[in-house]
Amino acid sequence: FPVDKIRNFSIIAHIDHGKSTLADRLLEMTGAIAKTDRNKQVLDKLQVERERGITVKAQTASLFYKHEGQTYLLNLIDTPGHVDFSYEVSRSISACQGVLLIVDANEGIQAQTVANFYLAFEAQLSIIPVINKIDLKNADPDRVEKQIETMFDIPSEECIRISAKLGINVDRVLQEVVKRIPPPTAKLEEPFKALVFDSTFDHYRGVVANIALFSGQVCKGDKIVSAHLGKTYEVNELGVLRPDEHPTERLYAGQVGYVIAGMKEVKDAQIGDTFYHQKQPVEPLPGFKPAKSMVFAGIYPTDQSEYPSLRSAVEKLTLNDSSVMVQRDSSMALGAGWRLGFLGLLHMEVFNQRLEQEYNASVIVTAPTVPYKAVLSSPKLIKEYGQEVITIVNPTQFPEKSCVVEYQEPMIDFLLNGKPVEELTTIVHKDQAYNTGKAMCVKLKESIPRQMFEIAVQAAIGSKVIARETIKAYRKNVLAKCYGGDITRKMKLLKKQAEGKKKMRRIGNIDVPKDAFINVLKRK
Ligand code: GTP
Repeated sequence: FPVDKIRNFSIIAHIDHGKSTLADRLLEMTGAIAKTDRNKQVLDKLQVERERGITVKAQTASLFYKHEGQTYLLNLIDTPGHVDFSYEVSRSISACQGVLLIVDANEGIQAQTVANFYLAFEAQLSIIPVINKIDLKNADPDRVEKQIETMFDIPSEECIRISAKLGINVDRVLQEVVKRIPPPTAKLEEPFKALVFDSTFDHYRGVVANIALFSGQVCKGDKIVSAHLGKTYEVNELGVLRPDEHPTERLYAGQVGYVIAGMKEVKDAQIGDTFYHQKQPVEPLPGFKPAKSMVFAGIYPTDQSEYPSLRSAVEKLTLNDSSVMVQRDSSMALGAGWRLGFLGLLHMEVFNQRLEQEYNASVIVTAPTVPYKAVLSSPKLIKEYGQEVITIVNPTQFPEKSCVVEYQEPMIDFLLNGKPVEELTTIVHKDQAYNTGKAMCVKLKESIPRQMFEIAVQAAIGSKVIARETIKAYRKNVLAKCYGGDITRKMKLLKKQAEGKKKMRRIGNIDVPKDAFINVLKRK
């Protein structure tokens, strides 16, 4: 396809401003999908995306568009809208020469509009402002145009007013894409160089990497190298996305498409990495960042017998999402599980929801924490850890609890008759310490049965107790109910009690049912 007839563009927007709806309209107009179900968002595929109405995984489509007797190849690169995924947005954007910046005609410019504008602006892309939802009763496109002019220095005449939902003025959007966005500066004669801007996992074929070719060409059987990982792969299949995969023989500079090359996990095709031919190494494209986890939480099966099935579910999901960091973990109370790192809270929730919906898993999620950097002051500790600064992702790993007393975000320990319950250790902002401590003590009190002695349930920061509940003593005589001498009945009761014990964890001399941990940690 002639490079001067190619346009690579993205749609960027604040969440809910109508990116997916516009993408669907563009696909319909170019015949990539049938105009059947108007609200069916084709580029949004996952159940969790439909339910939450947000894009989690970016999807890409190549469209053929006829304009003034010429056929253009428009590569539409979808991007997730939420801030947790802004790295994916920035990579998608660097595969483009222009963007459609959508702004809701009622809500106007919002936080992600600004963040996305700067991503596009810094990448020196052509920016076409599109004011969407002009059909809304409260729509005020004049005000939004002024906002765009003031904040982004884009003349109001450059704004396109549309209703993606009703299809009003959407044809104009494609005309302007052709007119205002330049073709890629692709150099066919130079060595093959492509940006990986997304990757997904397919159970039969392994990793499918979406790439944008900056120069050269690639075909089946080629040996390609991922610049940052330094791994070599052989291309088994490649093609274009319309938005389904259409295999082709070759991909050329300026094109956007997919490659399948025996990569076993998405980490083999990291977003932002560069592919080149084994025989012709090139400078990798700038801007690569390995995914960085910002929020950590423990995930455990509700029932340990479900560990193997949960493991396979976690494996499958992380195969598809290289931004989740996985580390095996185990806890006395909750058994074997994992400590997972996520890009943000929404990312974590989406992951858990997918575990439940797509894999029917029942999981306990511990309180999310951010990673902490600890600067060690004692020579003994420095020796023990082999370094002065350590990163801690699990509150129980803090080297010396007393080192954290004066923190803005203190660590709360929970104690049963003075014995700490490690799994419950929580880090909270100091303003919330009292309320959190109190609430968790109450929950613990409710979930631990009375025993032969009194139990003090305490929340403490360092040595200072901030909340306390008491579980009163109770003379537990399971046999009292058995009047007469029915020995089999007595045996049954004793057996039942013994089985009950197995589901308990002993802390000091206190039996704590596993449910207690689950109740306390369960998210409301
Ligand atoms: P993310 O994928 O999470 O980034 O959201 P999005 O920007 O893709 O928004 P989406 O296309 O899902 O639209 C959000 C809501 O706005 C949906 O309920 C759409 O039906 C509605 N919507 C989109 N375009 C229009 C429009 O032109 N007019 C009206 N009235 N509603 C619209």
